[in-house]
Amino acid sequence: MEQVRVALLGLGTVGTGVWKMIQSNQDVIARRTGMWVTVEAILVRDITKERQVEGTQSLLTTSFDEVLAREVDVVIEVMGGVEPTRDYLRRAMENGCHVVSANKELLARHGEELRSWAKRFGVKLAYEASVGGGIPIIGTVSHFLKANRICKVSGILNGTTNFILTKMKDEGRTYEDILIEAQQKGYAEADPTADVEGIDVAHKLSILSRLAFDVHVPVDQIQRVGITQVSPIELDLADQLGFAVKLLASAEQYGENGPVSCSVSPTLLPLSHPLSNVNDVYNAVHVEGDFVQDLTLIGQGAGEKPTASAVVEDLCNLWRLTGQTSGKAAPRALLLESADGDGSRFH
Ligand code: NAP
Ligand code: HSE
Repeated sequence: MEQVRVALLGLGTVGTGVWKMIQSNQDVIARRTGMWVTVEAILVRDITKERQVEGTQSLLTTSFDEVLAREVDVVIEVMGGVEPTRDYLRRAMENGCHVVSANKELLARHGEELRSWAKRFGVKLAYEASVGGGIPIIGTVSHFLKANRICKVSGILNGTTNFILTKMKDEGRTYEDILIEAQQKGYAEADPTADVEGIDVAHKLSILSRLAFDVHVPVDQIQRVGITQVSPIELDLADQLGFAVKLLASAEQYGENGPVSCSVSPTLLPLSHPLSNVNDVYNAVHVEGDFVQDLTLIGQGAGEKPTASAVVEDLCNLWRLTGQTSGKAAPRALLLESADGDGSRFH
């Protein structure tokens, strides 16, 4: 059994889920991967905050220097934001740590930079949780659709807004009331403007476009409309006419190596359309490739458990792909693989 030493940056919704999953599924992880995960440090903003997470108190710190001072193989970043997160991840990689991140904003805005650091420092970067919560869409596009020419990726990519649209229609409650419930359930971003204005979906589309089309689409170039102007009356009317309103994301490439067009907007879907029945916090991602043809993945798109699942699966796959715990001791062959990059989320 090989010990894998982990530092958690963040102990909020996702960090708590990751901690719980590592504790409760350690036996499964050990049996299937041969690794025994220990959490060595947990970075938080406020150490005095009351937390309902048993066993974490002695690991908490507000100092990233202290985190780096511990012997750590993998840094799991679930704190969010662009700075100081970006700086922390650079320093973690420089220190030989692999990085697992759930941070779509950071990945969408600074993905190229993070990947270049991972290559330079001979470590891996994984970010399955950044798109679609528990849905393994990043792994699917990166590892299982390598030989397809993908022409379109579309779907429902935000749990909070799908939850709001579903509840507004089914329960007749106000937008504000349901948003508060989505926040309490841990679905929404720290600033929910990113959810309701479609910014979070734009981050996810940018990440998916890079993987599906090898093209960087800057977030600011994605046309987007959020759900703040959608009223219960419109949802009701749409229903009576045989439609559901969904915040639909679409990234489409025109011609081989052609331009990629991305958009996010509330869209009327006929009730016979498969995505019209994807409700609550569920997300769905539809991929069109020249040989796979059509593929749709559906699952919970936000929240503690599904997101933790994606993060911990990344940790396990990191181990499976590298066959060693730290970039510090990477065998030469593995360093070469890292240096060349594999065109996927693992770099
Ligand atoms: P959250 O509940 O707000 O938790 C953030 C955690 O990070 C808190 O523990 C906070 O410390 C800590 N933190 C924030 N800024 C910090 C700083 N500057 N220094 C030290 N610690 C800091 O957020 P979350 O919902 O878990 O989301 C975390 C990340 O995962 C974000 O990038 C988010 O976009 C992404 N994500 C979230 C979900 C979801 O369903 N929630 C799904 C997929 C991806 P305190 O506890 O002391 O405040
Ligand atoms: N706030 C995001 C959502 C979290 O609601 O989909 C998952 O990325």
